[in-house]
Amino acid sequence: MTTQLLSPADDVTVYPATIGGLVDVPGDKSLSHRALLFGALADGTTKVTGLADSGDVRATADALRRMGVDVALAFTDGAGAGTIAGTIAEPHDIIDCGNSGTSLRLLSGIAAGIEGLTIMTGDASLRRRPVDRVRVPLEQMGAQVWARQHRLPPVAIRGGRLRALTYHSPVASAQVKSCLLFAGFAADGRTTVISPARSRDHTERLFGYLGHPVDAGEDSHGREVVTITPGQLRPDPIDVCRDPSSAAFWLVAAIIGGDAVTARTICINTTRTGFVRVLEDMGATFEITNAHERAGEPAADVTAHPSALTGGGLSGSAVVDAIDELPILALAGALSANGLTVRDAAELRVKESDRIATLARLFAALDMRLTEFDDGFSVEGGQRPQAGTVDAAGDHRIAMTAAIAATVATGPVRITGFAAVASSYPTFEQDLRRLGGRIDVAAGSYAGDREQQR
Ligand code: S3P
Repeated sequence: MTTQLLSPADDVTVYPATIGGLVDVPGDKSLSHRALLFGALADGTTKVTGLADSGDVRATADALRRMGVDVALAFTDGAGAGTIAGTIAEPHDIIDCGNSGTSLRLLSGIAAGIEGLTIMTGDASLRRRPVDRVRVPLEQMGAQVWARQHRLPPVAIRGGRLRALTYHSPVASAQVKSCLLFAGFAADGRTTVISPARSRDHTERLFGYLGHPVDAGEDSHGREVVTITPGQLRPDPIDVCRDPSSAAFWLVAAIIGGDAVTARTICINTTRTGFVRVLEDMGATFEITNAHERAGEPAADVTAHPSALTGGGLSGSAVVDAIDELPILALAGALSANGLTVRDAAELRVKESDRIATLARLFAALDMRLTEFDDGFSVEGGQRPQAGTVDAAGDHRIAMTAAIAATVATGPVRITGFAAVASSYPTFEQDLRRLGGRIDVAAGSYAGDREQQR
């Protein structure tokens, strides 16, 4: 039933253009992973709709199939819908999470709670990303966990009966928190995760939406405290709203040099819209219309207008709320009057690429200045991208940031490794054209063509 994932072009050139109009970006990636995982954990058959058709989400679907779950999905026009039924069991083979850190970290928590051995690996980028952040607490709950150099994938987990745990996470990470909530759901008592700052709360919301509320709050030090007990989940239908992290590219394009852009039915959960607040502080204006709720999440149409930006800075929990949008915010900072400084963002170094280093390279390739810090970066205002060539470095958000930079550049920008957009937004090229962008694809650059050349 599953159709083949659209394979984007790998070598493209994007030209300056005015971006504007209506856009329906793919379903939210974080929510799509969770819709699949919750569908597998619920008692009965769960109907899911609005899933992102992306490499990462397909990795979670395939992993669940290996674990004996019946995942029947059809993907049409970039959205997936179908049913999930059955019980999660020891996988019959190694699981390949591809480029997806969310698949690997969240599945680790589920694997720890089932009898048997689960082995997970991924692509070169994922095999450079830390897993000790989930290995340490899962071992404390009684699972056996092995990882390369104790901290990198591949990871092997022998799961079984788990002890409840109170865990102080050193990082404010929704992936760590969610991993432990899934493990806690299978443990023998109350599991509490205490994090230095709040992070996206989709997992907590879905537990509540499916009939098993978790306790979530903040302690007197501003730390996030979330507690879960074991229980059962109803197989209620999960309709996924669209991805604000994907919409952010078009909204920024509108602000820095385009016409108005409206991104329809995107998730406006405040743990995800930090980038909107940063841009508002810099002088941008947004309109929120058609506000409604979808599977326990707030959704709305969001419109951005071209505006002059002043400058800004962010640190602390504001960084967590905008963690995936920092690359495109860096570009907005360069086009602003006074620039943008980001601190407390060392997590950027362990994303799909070392995003502080890859952003610095992107800026240099387009003749702009960015100063790197261990935990962030600073960009001067009043800059404009020049023509050049950017290597996406296997990172979908770097590829898309380069494409938006091209729309306001003084000349064409070639992007190599552009196929990385498949992780979250395989139809980015089509939407760029629809919104008035101009893009050329190098001959032999689609996966089919690339296959033939081998
Ligand atoms: C995600 C959490 C964030 C985010 C990632 C998706 C999730 O990672 O960067 O793209 O779905 O839980 P961390 O939790 O590691 O910060």
